[in-house]
Amino acid sequence: MPSIMTDRTTQNEPLIVSALRGENTPRTPIWLMRQAGRYLPEYRELRTKAGGFLAMAYDPDPASEVTMQPVRRFGMDGAILFSDILVIPHALGQDLRFEAGEGPRLGGFDLLGLNPSNIDRTLAPVYETLKQTRVKLDREGFAQTALIGFCGSPWTVACYMIEGRGAQGFPAAKKYARENPADFSVLLDILVDASICYLGGQIDSGAQVIQLFESWAGIVDEADFDAHVIAPTKKIVSALKENYPHIPVIGFPRGVSPALLERYARATGIDGLGCDDTHAPADLKYLQSSVCVQGNLDNELLLTGGEPMLEAARTLLDTLGAGPFIFNLGHGVIKETPPDHVAALVKFVQEYRL
Ligand code: CP3
Repeated sequence: MPSIMTDRTTQNEPLIVSALRGENTPRTPIWLMRQAGRYLPEYRELRTKAGGFLAMAYDPDPASEVTMQPVRRFGMDGAILFSDILVIPHALGQDLRFEAGEGPRLGGFDLLGLNPSNIDRTLAPVYETLKQTRVKLDREGFAQTALIGFCGSPWTVACYMIEGRGAQGFPAAKKYARENPADFSVLLDILVDASICYLGGQIDSGAQVIQLFESWAGIVDEADFDAHVIAPTKKIVSALKENYPHIPVIGFPRGVSPALLERYARATGIDGLGCDDTHAPADLKYLQSSVCVQGNLDNELLLTGGEPMLEAARTLLDTLGAGPFIFNLGHGVIKETPPDHVAALVKFVQEYRL
């Protein structure tokens, strides 16, 4: 029997949401990781005015503007919240700074000092950013653009918390996990609970899709993959599905082997599988019978642009475009990328018909 729900979902549903439900969309939707950021002059201008990256992330006016910037310029099918995965450690009480051109720096890690009771209060401006962005999207003619919320997955966030900064292979974090397995598992549980709370707040504020960034899935020892990556992700997905069954979740386990990619897709309960560019498009096709594949154009091809970029985009669309599929990069937009290349890519993908 047709219900109000069915009518609503078929008529005004964003293409990204339909794809994540497993439907074949009339064309392939596209958004790009790090679509808001330093490659856009209007971003750099606002960041200077707001007094830096973190100040901007906690100020709903500029943060919602930055979220809108790529949508206004290029008309992507998704608007990803402008924030960062490291606001969770910050909300738990760990110091956080972003030095220009140096990346994140966190204060000393102290498991017992983490305080989950302030999360909603500290992150309230992020919720406000989502609300303001939704109003701007609807007002400016982007009612069908999916508002995408996100957080880092527990393993990846734990790596930064313990290491204190980005580092090749995160040796200090791995050593800590190996030498203090009980404490490490407490940390993962704290991050699972904080993520569930934070993502619930994002959904209540208008996020229609959630992406979990597991940027450092590729450095986990295979024997630990279940405990460090799959189990925490599954807990977050299950809790979200219980409270918000209609909100699709994308997981992005960057840097994993094809076998672990499949395992992650099957075991976590995600609806969408973010794939990095080490996976050949043809090798991802079989996954589409169980999840919506998202990816995976090499971000260096976007940097160089031109025919090689379009040729790779064509291959992706011809191979995976029958769906369910969401076009994206294999990793974020590189900061030297000319905005014209992004415009050319979005136009090409949105006009492409199989
Ligand atoms: O457009 C979007 O994708 C939304 C906003 C967003 C940012 N960071 C803004 C940002 C998202 C989704 C993230 C996720 C994020 N942050 C990840 C996971 C994705 C990935 O890249 O693997 C990680 C690991 C972080 C942590 C982080 N934040 C690092 C390592 C850095 C420094 C590296 C760099 O690119 O400078 C950041 C800073 C950051 N986060 C910037 C932006 C736009 C640049 C800050 C600036 O403006 O100076």
